[in-house]
Amino acid sequence: MEQVKQRSQLAQIIRERRAIKKGYNDKVVTKELVLDLLNDAIWAPTHGMRQPWRFIFIGKDQLPTFAKRVAATYPEERRENRENYLNEPNAILVVLMEELEVQKQWDDNYGAVASMIQNFWLLAWEKQLGVVWKTNPHNYDPEVKKILNAKDNEKIVGFLHWDILMKNHLLKREFLLLKSSTYLKDNRQFPIKIKERVVICTALFDDVVFRLKMDTY
Ligand SMILES: Cc1cc2nc3c(=O)[nH]c(=O)nc-3n(C[C@H](O)[C@H](O)[C@H](O)COP(=O)(O)O)c2cc1C
Repeated sequence: MEQVKQRSQLAQIIRERRAIKKGYNDKVVTKELVLDLLNDAIWAPTHGMRQPWRFIFIGKDQLPTFAKRVAATYPEERRENRENYLNEPNAILVVLMEELEVQKQWDDNYGAVASMIQNFWLLAWEKQLGVVWKTNPHNYDPEVKKILNAKDNEKIVGFLHWDILMKNHLLKREFLLLKSSTYLKDNRQFPIKIKERVVICTALFDDVVFRLKMDTY
């Protein structure tokens, strides 16, 4: 008989989490809610305990003004599209990272911020909040840094777009979980293409070969 592997809750959430990009609703994501999650997310590893992050929360009330100002940094013909796009989520959390001149320290800081964002994304998912990490062109525009009053040595790592998940989002995840070898699209089941990524690491351990197998869909 086929053995069904019991996954831990954490493993389940890691597998379930998705980037939520569409189907936003008008439920309010409050600063308090985001702060609560952040207070756990920042327990991510940070080299030298630098904790190189800073956050700017843009709630539903501030979004229209913010969206207009950011959209204004785009060429005329893109502005309306970008303004509508930035008004879609219920809130945006801008994540800033302290940039350091030494390459190793820069890399370590970026790694720490990325770990923290993943913590955050998982914690949000657990609370049925939808998040997507966005790295749109405006993340790289110095004018947008000015709008945010970001410091010269701060990098915009991402805009996290927020939403309260609705049932249709959750259902999609359930399908993925129910059938680990198929997925459901337009009510039809498809086999999942398993990409095998084998990482063989011999440099660190002469006599041990690690194989990491990841399935993707
Ligand atoms: C560093 C990073 C940057 C991303 N930037 C964008 C982005 O600019 N726009 C977007 O729609 N999604 C963005 N995403 C979301 C990815 O497209 C999404 O995570 C990916 O499709 C995998 O889907 P999943 O998260 O549901 O597994 C980004 C994700 C990461 C990790």
